[in-house]
Formats: sequence, C-alpha cells, structure tokens
Amino acid sequence: MTDTELRVSKIRNGTVIDHVNAGEALHVLALLEIDGSGGETVSLGMNVPSQTMGKKDVVKVEGRELSQNELDVLSLIAPDATINIIREYEVAEKKHVEPPETVEGVLSCPNLDCITNDDEPVQPRFDVLSEGVRCAYCETIVRDDLTDHLLA
Ligand code: CTP
Ligand code: ZN
Repeated sequence: MTDTELRVSKIRNGTVIDHVNAGEALHVLALLEIDGSGGETVSLGMNVPSQTMGKKDVVKVEGRELSQNELDVLSLIAPDATINIIREYEVAEKKHVEPPETVEGVLSCPNLDCITNDDEPVQPRFDVLSEGVRCAYCETIVRDDLTDHLLA
C-alpha cells in the first residue's frame, strides 16, 4: 500500500480488522463491546476505497487481540474480514474469519416465548445458515441486524 492510500495510521500492537463490509464498522465495535469507555485506542476507516470490495470499513484496535468467540460472531456480520495481528508495527498474523456451524451464548432469541427467554438455565444457541442464523430451540430465523441481538 502506498502512503497516499494510507488514511489511518499504522498501529504498534493490536488488531486490524480489514475488509469489513462498508457501513458495518460500528456494528463491529458493538460486538467487541467497544464504546470508548474502556480506554482502548481505536481508529476507524469507513467507506474507504478498496480494490476488491469497492468500498470497505477498517477497524484498528490497539492493545487487543480477539477471542475465537468474537471472531465467530464477527464472521456473521463481516464475512470477508481479514484479521491482522500487529506486533511491533509488523503484521505478525493474518487470518480470515470463517462462519462457525453454531454460535452459543452471544446472540439472544427475538422470540419472547422461546425457552431461552424464560428463567431456565438454557444458553441461547443458533445454527448458522447462509441466509442468517436459526434458533436451535424455537427455529426463529434472524436475517438482518444480528448486532441488535447481541447479548450484553
Ligand atoms: N496495518 C496497520 N498497522 C501496522 C501494519 C499494518 O494498521 N503496523 C494495517 C494496514 O494498514 C492494512 C492491514 O493492517 O490495513 C494489513 O496490512 P498489510 O498486510 O500490510 O496490507 P495488505 O497487504 O494490503 O493486506 P491484504 O493483503 O490483507 O489486503
Ligand atoms: Zn428461540
């Protein structure tokens, strides 16, 4: 990448989430539970020109690496994301997100009659489909705005 194309500074240590679908950066922050109150240094690029995607979003979080669970949910809202682990300014690891078969304990079911919304000790679990996610208990399908259903 040439310097003229570099809109957001390089970071020293942390994670660069690249190739996020344009417009999804704030959802990525929401699922990482980053709202500024934690004190992390975060840089965002939104609707940045991309050779492969036309436009993309980029999220750079300093001093933080992502858990597998976070990567799993990320894959649902940013299926083309590249995860770059940065150590001492160098890309130490580069990986692609992969949709898991199921996600457990990260999304809540929108169906209020679902057993996962009773006071039962049942962890919400969703099967991942190409068109969205399906509650493993009541089969409600969530297609859009998955981040509205993130468990706190
Ligand atoms: N990056 C960063 N800080 C660093 C190193 C890299 O913010 N110290 C960012 C780059 O700006 C880029 C991403 O991490 O957005 C990946 O870096 P790199 O692999 O060097 O870029 P590309 O080769 O363009 O990546 P790809 O092949 O995945 O498109
Ligand atoms: Zn349900």
